Amino acid sequence: MPQFGDYQNEIYLNALFGVVPKYPMAFAGWEQAAQAALPPSVWSYVAGGAGDELTQRANVRAFERWGLIPRMLVGAAERDLSVELFGQRLASPLFLSPVGVIGLCAQDGHGDLATARASARTGVPMVASTLSMDPLEDVAGELGATPGLFQLYTPTDRELAASLVHRAEAAGFRGIVVTLDTWVTGWRPRDLSTGNFPQLRGACLANYTSDPVFRAALAKPPEQDPGAVVALFSRIFGNPLTWDDLPWLRSLTTLPLVLKGICHPDDVRRARDAGVDGVYCSNHGGRQANGGLPALEALPGVVAAADGLPVLFDSGVRSGADVVKALALGATAVGVGRPYAYGLALGGADGIVHVLRSLLAEADLLMAVNGYPGLADLPAGLRRVPDTGA
Ligand code: FNR
Repeated sequence: MPQFGDYQNEIYLNALFGVVPKYPMAFAGWEQAAQAALPPSVWSYVAGGAGDELTQRANVRAFERWGLIPRMLVGAAERDLSVELFGQRLASPLFLSPVGVIGLCAQDGHGDLATARASARTGVPMVASTLSMDPLEDVAGELGATPGLFQLYTPTDRELAASLVHRAEAAGFRGIVVTLDTWVTGWRPRDLSTGNFPQLRGACLANYTSDPVFRAALAKPPEQDPGAVVALFSRIFGNPLTWDDLPWLRSLTTLPLVLKGICHPDDVRRARDAGVDGVYCSNHGGRQANGGLPALEALPGVVAAADGLPVLFDSGVRSGADVVKALALGATAVGVGRPYAYGLALGGADGIVHVLRSLLAEADLLMAVNGYPGLADLPAGLRRVPDTGA
């Protein structure tokens, strides 16, 4: 049976014939090479976060506080990293987190499509952002047999929200992820210092300009008056939702509904009571509120309160070891954000495939070495590492 760790053999064997990997093998290299490849404004937007970026750094450091105990003589010659999510068996526990400017991270400005192609090639589901360079129907068209989810930024216009959800359903997306933490943009000094906000320059608005409800609210077709598109988008983008809006959101679709940005157990319980199908523990990679709590610290409480409801997780995942630790802490599936944006900047869909295969190979080989044949073996291996103050 092929294993994710086989990627390592492929690389070593190719090297015997003088072919060394085209792309760096770990996050630091992806990050460094992406900085060189991306225009400064896109780099700043992707790499930056809220405030002094404490939360962003804390997300990454949080993984260092957990360790995994190796078990020997287990003979974990085959590992099963597959997960069940919303009635589907997925070969791996990874998914591609929604990244609103992913379109701009590709050299040709069609990064949403490249991401969908990488998803089709790897079987790693894509959560497609509302903010994209290509309409959601075109993105769905590139997903092949891999299930995709659509991420909704809920506009203030309910008719437009319903239209986006119904278009996602019709296009074949298998679930709706409603992001709750971004109805207003967090304070981002890196971008503020250059006045850099891609959507206000008309980028990543294809789902709006292709929408019949949005178009009907414009006096002229979007192509003829880009300024009016941005003005309307700015007026309707952010909806400060409350719990009272949840029954309406639930009524929009029979697809699995997932709430993104949930970090408090009480919010998990309320979401459960309102009939959602999953919660997504994330602090938006530290881009929204610089409150300092790493998302990983919130994960165990979220998992306990979810009481069997699927828990998606992201924020700070940089390696295969991080993936294993998030799973050990109870995540049902683990989201990759910035690492794949950097992979895309380096090599288009090939770059994303490399990043995903690298993360999965590392996770798989860690499980082999540590004697964990399956994901159910992970929690018993997890230990809190004493804080050395280093
Ligand atoms: C994001 N994220 C995001 N989330 C979302 O729900 N809709 C979106 O459109 C975006 N856009 C976006 C743009 C950029 C440039 C980044 C880096 C992130 C958040 C994303 O889904 C995820 O929560 C974070 O990327 C996780 O943090 P790390 O692991 O990437 O640091």
